[in-house]
Amino acid sequence: MSDYFRKKAHTNELITTFDDVLLLPGYTSFGPSEVDISTKLGEKYKFNLPIMSAAMDTVTEEEMAIKMALFGGLGVLHRNCSFEKQLKMVRHVKRARSFVIEDVATITPDEPLYKAKDFLENYGISGLVVVDENNKVCGIFTKRDIPYSEEECKKGHVKDFMTRDVISIKPNASRKEALEMLFKHRIEKLPIIDNGNLRGLITKKDLKPEFPLATIDEEGRLLCALAISPKYPTSSEAVSKLKEIDQYSDIFFIDVADFYKKDDIEGTRKLMDLLEGDFIVGNIGTYEAAEFILTKCDYPEKLIALKVGMGSGSICTTSIQTGVGAPTLFATAEVADAIADYNPKMGLIADGGFKNPGDLPKAFAVGADMIMSGHFFAGTTESPGYLDTIQGRKVKIYRGMGSKEARTTNYVLDRYSVEAKMLPEGVSDYVPFTGPLESMLETLKEGLANGMIYAGAQNLLNMRTAKMGVISAIGQTEARPHDLLGKY
Ligand code: XMP
Repeated sequence: MSDYFRKKAHTNELITTFDDVLLLPGYTSFGPSEVDISTKLGEKYKFNLPIMSAAMDTVTEEEMAIKMALFGGLGVLHRNCSFEKQLKMVRHVKRARSFVIEDVATITPDEPLYKAKDFLENYGISGLVVVDENNKVCGIFTKRDIPYSEEECKKGHVKDFMTRDVISIKPNASRKEALEMLFKHRIEKLPIIDNGNLRGLITKKDLKPEFPLATIDEEGRLLCALAISPKYPTSSEAVSKLKEIDQYSDIFFIDVADFYKKDDIEGTRKLMDLLEGDFIVGNIGTYEAAEFILTKCDYPEKLIALKVGMGSGSICTTSIQTGVGAPTLFATAEVADAIADYNPKMGLIADGGFKNPGDLPKAFAVGADMIMSGHFFAGTTESPGYLDTIQGRKVKIYRGMGSKEARTTNYVLDRYSVEAKMLPEGVSDYVPFTGPLESMLETLKEGLANGMIYAGAQNLLNMRTAKMGVISAIGQTEARPHDLLGKY
């Protein structure tokens, strides 16, 4: 059983990883369409896809973060860059799917009608808000207001044909309120007006969820997460930059190789006081580290999850360089026990080391709420970096944040212990180009859902009662293709 397995892992008898264990089949009483892979972190954040892309500079920048959130997961923007670049990235993600248009197309009442007509016909705009020289809204002009007669179009002015009685909404209205208002008045456009001044525009088209599984905030914008250092900024300029970033980032990931350190724990406490966003800290690898964070650190409720796994990543060399590590499956089992003992509401993210889709059900079986990977996503179209060709195969670069290549920028030096600054703890290499993120996510979803069906678990919480055991070395060989004459 996974509970049994967790207790066993917790006694440190055996440090196991994904390939060491296998889930056993369970009784299944539901169909594939009834499998629910949605998950939660804290009370606030719901995800239709329990998958995150890693905060690494060859994995997650704006494009990846936007797509991960559109498909229901989360992309964590990396921190191997300046605050300016981080600000640009978080802004981009937050604005990507806002249903509020800030840059509204406007026209003044005295302008000739043909100008408005030209705008609407040639610039793909279906309506203009009419404002006077003080930005006060005096009407709205849509395609329906264009007169039929050519003559009138030539001679008339906007004020003669615009709709004067403008139905509007107040700033900060929710998606639901806007939808209700649009429906009530059977209109398609809703200017946002504050004291008579135009503040934005909501259109019916932008409110429609084209991506029904998207991870969104209360205002319908994409959820945004960013990795940061646990060190409190030393200059007031850096403090104000972080506060600016805070306006766009919902969740801050404290991103270090080993979070179980006095300085990092204390630095994070100060950052929690400075910033509005929620926090996820990591990585840690043991029951004791989780117990310490949950009982001794006096962190506020804005700590919503712990991220675990040390040295399992496909580009990691921490375990061989330092002799210390906590494989992701083992770390998840350990920390899940501490969470169950001290704060069952705390979220748990299993990070790194996933090689096959079948590793995902194993992580959920030992207590993960979400999984994080760089390996699965570094080769997709959406990852940063150029496509290269090696021996006729398309490839992209994937590098560890502790590799000597990534460390040349200095931004990530404090991910590692001071003593290890000169010792690389990761590598940089090529990975095959795998095409659009969406198809990779489909593969992972299928592996996870099929694993749940075999295990008899309809949702991720039920997965925790699935039976799991350690498999013998011969069993591991047998679990893969074998005794064939081909390439395997
Ligand atoms: P995967 O297996 O998806 O793992 O490639 C990604 C995770 O690995 C961590 N990471 C590193 N760990 N040295 C390490 O020991 C590194 O250079 C390094 N870079 C990333 C990180 O937790 C990431 O999510």
